[in-house]
Amino acid sequence: MSRKIKAVQYGVGAMGRVMIEMMHDKGIEIVGGIGRPTSAIIGQDLGTLAGIGPLGVVVTGDAEKTLTETKPDIAVVCITTYLADLWPHVELCARLGVNVVTIAEECFYPWRTEPELSRRWDALCKQNHCSAYGIGYQDFYWGNQITQLAGTCHSITSVKGFAQFNVDDYGPEVARDHMVGLTADVFAVERKKKGNRPSYMQMVGDLIIDGLGLTFKSVTEDVYQTTASQEIFCKSLNVSLPKGIGTGNANRTHFETLEGIPVDIEMVSKVYEPGETDQNKWEIKGRPDVSVSNERPATDILTCTEVVSRIPDVISAPAGLLKAFEMPPIKYRRRFD
Ligand SMILES: NC(=O)c1ccc[n+]([C@@H]2O[C@H](COP(=O)([O-])OP(=O)(O)OC[C@H]3O[C@@H](n4cnc5c(N)ncnc54)[C@H](OP(=O)(O)O)[C@@H]3O)[C@@H](O)[C@H]2O)c1
Repeated sequence: MSRKIKAVQYGVGAMGRVMIEMMHDKGIEIVGGIGRPTSAIIGQDLGTLAGIGPLGVVVTGDAEKTLTETKPDIAVVCITTYLADLWPHVELCARLGVNVVTIAEECFYPWRTEPELSRRWDALCKQNHCSAYGIGYQDFYWGNQITQLAGTCHSITSVKGFAQFNVDDYGPEVARDHMVGLTADVFAVERKKKGNRPSYMQMVGDLIIDGLGLTFKSVTEDVYQTTASQEIFCKSLNVSLPKGIGTGNANRTHFETLEGIPVDIEMVSKVYEPGETDQNKWEIKGRPDVSVSNERPATDILTCTEVVSRIPDVISAPAGLLKAFEMPPIKYRRRFD
């Protein structure tokens, strides 16, 4: 591109604000910001919210007007996790022909869990010549790193992953989604109310299975609550969590494939107690056995760096809903202008 990339920040919470700072730093022009229409941040300057000083661009509550008037090359959508909840926002972008990169976890691979919306989204993008990509930390650390590692094997017999991150590194949407601060009884009731929505690791497993050319057969998921062994403070909800209260959850997801190669992933996502750190460890059994372990990955920052790094790739990608393993290698660019 010979001119500056123009971006709209759609959802200006904890992650959205870091995106603004990083995009600005890389030479992307922030042309708009969209918040919840009733939010207290409507009318506030995006740069001020991101802690980099005023940019002269304010948050609006009218997504359609902002996207139509500013004509961005991309919208960076950081609102929520599941595609059904995100649908009005990404449908609007696709209808207006605006490329999207979103950190909504289900959008990493929504094809099995939300097949109808995925097909509609893909078709709408193709019809309006734009693309959409659901990533964040997933792109490399839970996706391409694993599929490429498998590519170094002659044959594989199983894939196993373990990931842990601190829910308190994100905004209140994440803490609420992980049911922080609940007693065991309320946790059980809330889990049921959520209709046992799939954990993020279901999309990660689906992406890996598709990326390895395997065929999904079945999935089982075991979710349990993590609890505080001592009183700790949750800064994203601004509450103290007494001993015994829920700090988040953990889940074990087991996939069977038609090829007989199981994929097992365990994810622990909770408010940390002193001394706990982020983890990401993967092991592929086969010929030969291979593994990768990322020491204390900064999961929250890597969410934003990967999204920003991918912006030129999404803009130049073929129209449609993109899959991580079909993208070019993620590439360092000092600046985009
Ligand atoms: N893929 C990844 O690696 C990754 C990493 C981190 C987070 N995430 C996901 O990204 C989402 C956001 O995380 P976060 O930490 O930034 O949470 P957050 O701080 O709670 O931010 C969410 C933002 O979305 C805004 N919002 C709500 N409804 C909206 C609407 N209709 N239009 C525009 N904005 C709206 C909220 O505004 P109000 O505060 O006014 O309601 C809030 O500012 C979560 O679902 C999280 O699970 C993904």
